[in-house]
Amino acid sequence: MFNASLLKKFNGIETPFYYYDTKLLRQTLDSAQRAAKKYDIELHYALKANANKQILKLIKDAGFGADCVSGNEVKRASECGFKADKIVFAGVGKSDSEIRFAIKKNIFCFNCESIDELKVINEIAKSENKKARVALRINPNVNAHTHHYITTGLEENKFGINAWELEETLKTIHKSKFLNLIGLHFHIGSQITDLTVFKNLCLKVNDMLVWFANRNVFVENINLGGGLGVDYYHPDKSPVPDFENYFSLFRKFLKTEPNQKLHLEPGRAIVAQCGSLISKVLFVKKGVQTNFIILDAGMTELLRPALYQSYHKMENLTGAKRKESLKYDVTGPICESSDCFGKAVDLPETKRGDILAIRTTGAYAESMSLDYNLRNRAKAYLAEDL
Ligand code: LLP
Repeated sequence: MFNASLLKKFNGIETPFYYYDTKLLRQTLDSAQRAAKKYDIELHYALKANANKQILKLIKDAGFGADCVSGNEVKRASECGFKADKIVFAGVGKSDSEIRFAIKKNIFCFNCESIDELKVINEIAKSENKKARVALRINPNVNAHTHHYITTGLEENKFGINAWELEETLKTIHKSKFLNLIGLHFHIGSQITDLTVFKNLCLKVNDMLVWFANRNVFVENINLGGGLGVDYYHPDKSPVPDFENYFSLFRKFLKTEPNQKLHLEPGRAIVAQCGSLISKVLFVKKGVQTNFIILDAGMTELLRPALYQSYHKMENLTGAKRKESLKYDVTGPICESSDCFGKAVDLPETKRGDILAIRTTGAYAESMSLDYNLRNRAKAYLAEDL
């Protein structure tokens, strides 16, 4: 990905910065949309993965809707051109003002996570004299077999309405004049690489659909969330995820009615591989048992390793041709021992001033960045900006 001419373009740009390979992003969007059309699936991109305005515009232009989890994400999505009737708003803790804002915007749907939330939306919709379209986010109790911090569909998680609350939920909806139930929503977790997990989800959802049908409740929209994982170990092996295989699985196992629409909310799978965090080596330091590389990027630009012990491939772009390979602990400059991108990482002999790329950082890097230690926010560059 990083040839000499690109490296030359990096010269003079202040590090650290995010670099987005928009050619790869376009290929990914194209492949996702082609497969989605084939399997008649509507895609809502999960803004939380990356809400960079330029990236969002490309995603919007490719025909995606938007999956938002805050009032500001709803605002950002509409500023970037996503039509209100393609915006869904999820989240376990929507504030009254966020709900009012989204009702005024007339968004497609609220994905509701509790009975109390339904009551609040009904009240606010009433005060705005509007009907709010809602989908019930149901906790299906399906194990996503991923990191426990990004598992959301188990009973022990705070997300969604539990199966035993559904009877009461329906009663609440029947009593609420300002709610219009249009769908069911499920999301069981993120970075899921074992696709049988999605099959298990489909089987659970089929049971749910029967449950609703038995009560004469027909829901037009079935939204199965996001979660498709990417290959952090080999970012160049198949940089465009296999959407065809992923989408076909839902059509194979999910028993929807002909007039029921299927929606998915991919985030990571769309943007992860197109992004790299580019950073300069400040110091190389000899430790007792290891050598430390101290980068000018830290957990403030990429929190995932500190938070989930996640792996990101690293490449020394300027030292690639050096023969000797050494083991380094690659760390950032932040005053926390968890500010470490990898331990005992094999890299060519590395020197002060070298430029490193931390790969697969298009998702959940820029969007999770912090200004801890009063750091400046790193800038982002698209391939066409350079
Ligand atoms: N829909 C809902 C309701 C979600 O909660 C999420 C992610 C998505 C869609 C998109 O999931 P994706 O396709 O990106 O897996 N910060 C963590 C990931 C947190 C994901 C939270 N929800 C990480 O860096 O791994």
